[in-house]
Amino acid sequence: MNTLPKGWNLVACADGAAVAEHVAACLLVDRLHWPDQPLGLATGRTMEPVYGALVKVVYALPAAEQQRLRQQWLSFNLDEYVGLAPGDAGSFAAFMARHLQQPLALGMDQVRLPAGLASDPGGEAQRYATDLARCGGLGLQLLGLGLNGHVGFNEPPCPAMAPCRCLELSSTTRGQNAAAFGGDARAVPERAITLGLAEILAARSLLLVVTGAAKAGILARLLAEEPSPELPASWLQGHPNLTLVADQAALGECGAIDPCFS
Ligand code: GLP
Repeated sequence: MNTLPKGWNLVACADGAAVAEHVAACLLVDRLHWPDQPLGLATGRTMEPVYGALVKVVYALPAAEQQRLRQQWLSFNLDEYVGLAPGDAGSFAAFMARHLQQPLALGMDQVRLPAGLASDPGGEAQRYATDLARCGGLGLQLLGLGLNGHVGFNEPPCPAMAPCRCLELSSTTRGQNAAAFGGDARAVPERAITLGLAEILAARSLLLVVTGAAKAGILARLLAEEPSPELPASWLQGHPNLTLVADQAALGECGAIDPCFS
């Protein structure tokens, strides 16, 4: 029997659609109740149905509440590729514009990401972290899980307190994300700017979303292994307020999880 780390909760859903609806509801509650703290957002295929569901629930709100949510919205994304302009279809800025900023009619400056085209990516990482800190740091942080256990673009090996920085992407990650680049892993940028485990672990709460059978192995490792640099997501075990939302396909290899320890 697996046990969840202290402070973690598990929401087990039948499928990806149910995961998306649950996560969208959590994001909506967060924006309505904690609008003063920036929301941390993520990209990736896991998040596409999440943002689709979020747009739907926002449009179901009364007009006055929709307006309030729009006016107060401020989010910071985890990461961006180095060398891509916001207008490049493969950039995370374009992903966020397509799935969230345009559908919700949010201002460009309300959905922030590192600037992929900055001439000094290391300096841009510091500027981005400073901007986030000046806005109050992360409230709720939405997280996906990489096939190699990365969160954001914190690639293994990664120390627990790694700060926001520019880093080289692994071949696993470039392969995982090739679909957004015509299926060619070599077309995926070699570097990225990512918030570090330091900023992520300082968030008020974390929402880790894992779907699909391809993630079952890495999720099982995350729940079974001691925290270590080889599995960056394992540092999340030290966060006192994390909700894992996963579908049955992703939970497949975890066996029974004892919720009493959550
Ligand atoms: C990407 C992103 C992560 C994302 C993860 C999973 O590379 N940098 O923030 O959570 O990898 O992606 P997907 O949902 O497509 O599996």
